[in-house]
Amino acid sequence: MILLLTTAIDAVVGNAHPTKKLSSTTFVGTSCRRKKTVNKQQPTNNQQQTNKQPTNNQQPTTNNQQPTTILVTGGAGYIGSHAVWALKERGYKVVVLDNLVYGHRDIVEEVLDVELVVGDTSDRLLLDQLFATRQIAAVMHFAAYTYVGESVKNPGKYYGNNVVGTLTLLEAMTKVGIDKLVFSSTAATYGIPQESPIPETHPQQPINPYGSSKLMVEWMLKDYNLAHGLKSVIFRYFNASGADPNGKTGEDHNPETHLIPLILYTALGKRPSVSIFGTDYPTPDGTCIRDYIHVTDLAEAHVLGLEYLLQGGETEIFNLGNGNGFSVKETIAAAREVIGKEIKVVEGDRRPGDPPILVGSSDKAKKILGWDPNYGDLKQIIAHAWQWHQLRHGC
Ligand SMILES: NC(=O)c1ccc[n+]([C@@H]2O[C@H](COP(=O)([O-])OP(=O)(O)OC[C@H]3O[C@@H](n4cnc5c(N)ncnc54)[C@H](O)[C@@H]3O)[C@@H](O)[C@H]2O)c1
Repeated sequence: MILLLTTAIDAVVGNAHPTKKLSSTTFVGTSCRRKKTVNKQQPTNNQQQTNKQPTNNQQPTTNNQQPTTILVTGGAGYIGSHAVWALKERGYKVVVLDNLVYGHRDIVEEVLDVELVVGDTSDRLLLDQLFATRQIAAVMHFAAYTYVGESVKNPGKYYGNNVVGTLTLLEAMTKVGIDKLVFSSTAATYGIPQESPIPETHPQQPINPYGSSKLMVEWMLKDYNLAHGLKSVIFRYFNASGADPNGKTGEDHNPETHLIPLILYTALGKRPSVSIFGTDYPTPDGTCIRDYIHVTDLAEAHVLGLEYLLQGGETEIFNLGNGNGFSVKETIAAAREVIGKEIKVVEGDRRPGDPPILVGSSDKAKKILGWDPNYGDLKQIIAHAWQWHQLRHGC
């Protein structure tokens, strides 16, 4: 599987021709097939139907009254697509840059309905042309490869994409004076926690190349601020989870490695069982405890981080987590309750490198950005994800 995946990725990234011009084939139009039937209708159940309403009803504009345009790299992926929702709701114009190695064209074109530029962050000519032809005020940078296990086996792929790709982006930004960036970092930069909940001041000692690649970008951002005045908001996420409460977007990774979607695939009959890796951890029920943060709350934090920068904020780092941990067994039990059916579980040995407890403190984001997450309840997170999974993957 990993070999196949690597080959596919290399093939696609290899297609990012450095000499390619922005053209009608690069800027993709809006008529394109969906991967599957994507929900544009009302939700199918009685769950809460609206995202938090924008607090600011005025459309954000530039000095010449044009809508403020934000480039979202990785906007065809899971978290990026939810950030696009949040930006659109606030009246921003959005351009998505995604190489579609893992992203979904149909979501950007047919659901989010924003401009999609198919390309790679390491394609400097493409970036130069993009910045020359669009009035980009700031960048939200989600684009990265995210598979921890794969990063251990093939670190070059992660340093190449996550570090060099970001370096190319930062160089292109500084050349044209774009000096605001919101960056997706990760709790994986902390490594094995020495305290819980983890504050932003916790030592950063990542234990895999994925975490190291993100930490390297954090270092680059510090240096680009000093050298070029590029201001950034760095968000260290814990476990992103859930889906748009209206069921329009959600998690669709392939391969999938996250617990909640794996539970839901099992409930849909797409997998035989869910594995629990280790039942002898020093936790109340012996299984690992994780911090699940709703993707819509994450998206909301990104808009707040962006507006903090647009208002002249200095470079800052924030954890984004739920603050409450849930064990693997608790999560499966909550899913059984939400879905109303049995989910087959297979208990196995611990995996190397899995800390018993990984929970973050998000007090700083609440205090400085005024972040006020709406969806901390685990069952609600699972209910939103379940709604999306049935629409996207159930058949
Ligand atoms: N999902 C989580 O729980 C989690 C936790 C911590 C941090 N993060 C970070 O959040 C970000 C988004 O994660 P996600 O779960 O949405 O992943 P995802 O794979 O769904 O989205 C990433 C998107 O970036 C695109 N991409 C990758 N490299 C690119 C490149 N060089 N140029 C252009 N596009 C590129 C992919 O095609 C994909 O659409 C990542 O940076 C990830 O490291 C995610």
